[in-house]
This record gives sequence, C-alpha cells and structure tokens, in this order.
Amino acid sequence: MAIVSSDMGAPRRGSAPAGKRGSAQADERGSAQAGELPVTPARSPVNRRLLDPSALAADSDPLAPAKADETGEASGTGWGEPPAREDGLRPKRLADYIGQSELKQVLAIAVEATRSRGEALDHVLLYGPPGLGKTTMALVLAEELGVRCRITSAPALERPRDIVGLLVNLQPGELLFIDEIHRLNRVAEEILYPAMEDFRLDLTVGKGSSARTRSLQIAPFTLVGATTRAGSLSSPLRDRFGLIQRLEFYNLDDLQAIVQRAAGLLQLDLEQQAALEVARRCRGTPRIANRLLRRVRDVAAVNGQLRIGPELVHEALSLHSVDSRGLDASDRRLMTLLLESYGGGPAGLDALAAALGEDSTTLETVVEPYLLQLGFLQRTPRGRQVTPAGRSHLGWPAQLDLSGAQP
Ligand code: ADE
Repeated sequence: MAIVSSDMGAPRRGSAPAGKRGSAQADERGSAQAGELPVTPARSPVNRRLLDPSALAADSDPLAPAKADETGEASGTGWGEPPAREDGLRPKRLADYIGQSELKQVLAIAVEATRSRGEALDHVLLYGPPGLGKTTMALVLAEELGVRCRITSAPALERPRDIVGLLVNLQPGELLFIDEIHRLNRVAEEILYPAMEDFRLDLTVGKGSSARTRSLQIAPFTLVGATTRAGSLSSPLRDRFGLIQRLEFYNLDDLQAIVQRAAGLLQLDLEQQAALEVARRCRGTPRIANRLLRRVRDVAAVNGQLRIGPELVHEALSLHSVDSRGLDASDRRLMTLLLESYGGGPAGLDALAAALGEDSTTLETVVEPYLLQLGFLQRTPRGRQVTPAGRSHLGWPAQLDLSGAQP
C-alpha cells in the first residue's frame, strides 16, 4: 500500500470543546450508545462506484494471481504450492468485499468524502462476533484511501511508550488498527483522547514537583478500533469514534459467494453445490469458511481429485468432525451431555463445564453462541436447555409431553 502524499496533512477535524478534552469523567455524561450513529444511506453514485467490481482499475485487480512480495512468497501453480498465501484470500477493495452491505455503503461514502476533502478519515469503531472481517475491513479502508494500515492489539499496548511510539510514527492519513480495543488500559486510553480529537499527545516530562506536561502535534490519522464487546468500551473512548458500525453474521448466499471467490484464488475447481456445502458448515463466518475450504483442498489433493463436488466436501469435513450444520465435536459433546445426563436440561453452566473438563468462559463464549444462533440451545434462568430442533438434529426423538396438558 502506498503511503499518502504529505499534502494530506490537512486541516484537523473540528476540535471538541475544551471541557471535553482529556477529562474522562466529564465525558461520562450524555454518551451515545454503540450502534446509534449509523443510518443506512441511499445507494449514491459515489458508493456505487466504490462497490462495483467492474469500476476497479486493472492494476488493482484483487483476483490477479499473487505476485512475489517482500516476504518472498510468490504465486504457484501446482498442488504443493499454494497459488496465493493465506492472507491473499482477504478482499482488498470494497468492491470485492462480499456481504455487510450496510457497512460497505456507510464506509464507501465516508471514504469518498474524505478523499475529496483531503483529510484523514474519521475514527471508526467496528464491533461484532469474531471472524466476520473487522481486520479485513480496516485493510480494505486503507487500500481505498491509498494509505498504510498499522495493526496492533490492545494487550500489546501495555506501557505508555507502546502507544506513544505508534502514534508519533504515523504518517498523515494513515490508519492505526487496534484489535480488542475494549482491553486497552486506562493510561493508553487517556493518551488516545487528545490524539483522536486534536492529533495531539500530552506527555508528562520529568518526575515529582518538576514534572511538566508537553504537547506534541502528531499527523492526522484514523483510529480503527475493533471489538467483540462494544458494551465494554468506556463511554469517553466510544464517543470519540465518528463511525460506529456492527458487523453482522453472513447469510448463506454471501458465504457461498465468499467460498467460491476463495476457491478461485486457490485455483480450485469447486462445484456450486460444494461451495454451498462449505457455506452451510462454516458457522456464518468467512474465516471458518476459508479454513474448511483448505481442509477440503487437502483431501482433494490426497485423492488426486481435481474437481470438487459436494460429496468430497462431506468426506473431508466429516474427517474433521464438522457436521452438515457446522457443529463440531465440542458442540456435540455439550449437547450430548445435556441430553444423556440432564434429560435435555436445564443444567447450570458450571456443572456442564466441570463435566466436560472445559473452562466455563470458553463454553459460554466459544461453544454456545453458534448453538444459540442455530436455535439448538436455549439459555433459561434455570440453565442451558436443548431445544426440539437441537434434539432432532442430534437424532434424538421428540420429548414426550408428560404434563397431561391437552394439545
Ligand atoms: N474472505 C473473507 N471475508 C470475505 C468477504 N467478506 N468477502 C470476500 N472474501 C472474503
């Protein structure tokens, strides 16, 4: 990605009233809720241009075979040699990004307006479940703006100098992507406030009675924050994002298209039904879709099969214990435990975790969400319970109604 020219050192965004700057407490008042900001815009010619694959210049064709890059990885031709590195499956431009249409429309307008003003894009907060493409979207934004994207995550910004070092080294217009931004510590957050609002760092020099505050101007930049837990962000931090956008789970059509696009990049001959089969099993998540596709590619390679049909997908994913709806061994262990030991539930999370030898947080945040989304599991005040749909999927007969109530 090119670094933006220095004439992007454009006017700063409207500064906030003095009282707002630097004071976390003052900002607790009147905070906006995450997700309040976005309003779906009508499809404008501007964003139609950005969203239309045919409008892309040939030299930025993301489907073109991967060229050798500075890491020395190059495009390949045979089974043993991946034609595109893993990262090569990510869409590079908005027009290639499948799904999340509201998000794309909002960002396309923001990008176009920003470019025409020659400013840095307003700060963006992306939130939603893992694997839906928050990092990918940050990279896409940088590509659209013609700037570099620096990637870090909040746990890596432990000491003040970690975040200061990143901020002072940003070039005008560049993106700083902070993953898991809800985990940012208080000091790093306080450093970010004036940096986000006025592109200014307020640094304390010296110690004790000789301590002085020095202000340092930094380049106008865009912070792209990503979180799976928007509710855990402090209000002052959340309020400093101009765009707050939720990423949604992908529908089956979009997932199928994502799988087909990835198959093209990996130079696989994948039948449409086979792409649909992968899409059904990827838990609504492109990252998992791409992972499953690679497993299918392995089996195809070992079998010497060049054309991949749905049977091969079934064979490959059964090998990895992924069933027709994307349930894996952990999902089935939980459901089976509930059915066999608790008559389908309800049962408490801790009791289930102990019986499975799992950590209860892992069970709650990693295993359960997809089962809840499928409607196979319910969280009730008395604990977890398998639903009739869940019973039926696992091949258990419907539960007899012993209440004596007439239908
Ligand atoms: N690969 C991963 N996520 C994608 C998306 N949203 N669109 C296209 N390809 C993808």
